Amino acid sequence: MATLMSHVATVDVELRINSTSRQLTIDPRTTLLDALREHLGLTGSKKGCDHGQCGACTVHIDGRRVLSCLTLAISAQGRAITTIEGLAKGEQLHPMQQAFVDQDGFQCGYCTPGQIMSAVALLGERCGPNDDDVRESMSGNLCRCGAYPNIIAAIQSVRGDSR
Ligand code: FES
Ligand code: FES
Repeated sequence: MATLMSHVATVDVELRINSTSRQLTIDPRTTLLDALREHLGLTGSKKGCDHGQCGACTVHIDGRRVLSCLTLAISAQGRAITTIEGLAKGEQLHPMQQAFVDQDGFQCGYCTPGQIMSAVALLGERCGPNDDDVRESMSGNLCRCGAYPNIIAAIQSVRGDSR
C-alpha cells in the first residue's frame, strides 16, 4: 500500500557544512535543523522549541548566527554553514568553547551549543563592552538552568573584558 510519504516530492540538496560538502535528498520543506540532526547525524545543534524562541538550534551561515529551526535547508545551498561540530580544530577547542568550560558556563548543557554559536558570532558583531550589552545581544538564547552569569563571564573573558 502506498504511503503518504511516497507522494511527497523530494529534492536533491547540496550543503556545505563545516567546510565539507554534503548531499542529501529531502522533502523541500525540511528545516536546516532537521537536515543536520535527522539526515546528517550532526546532533550538536539542539531542538528546544522548534519555533524560533529558544536559540538552542543556532548555527552560522556565512559567519552570521541563524536559527536553523526557522531556516529551510534548501535555502542554505551555496552558503557556508558552521555548526558546533565545526568550531574546534581537531582536539583544540575554540576559545569560546574553552571559556565555557573554564567559567562553568553550563549545567545540563542542552542550550550550550546554541549559546556558544551565538557567542562566537557576537565577537564579530557590534556589541557594547558591558555585561548588559552582552546580555542584550544574547537574549535570544534561553537557558532553563539559569547559567547566565557564567555564560556572560565566559563571553567577556574571550572578549578580553572579564570582570
Ligand atoms: S529550536 Fe530553534 S529557536 Fe528553539
Ligand atoms: S545549561 Fe541547561 S539549559 Fe542551559
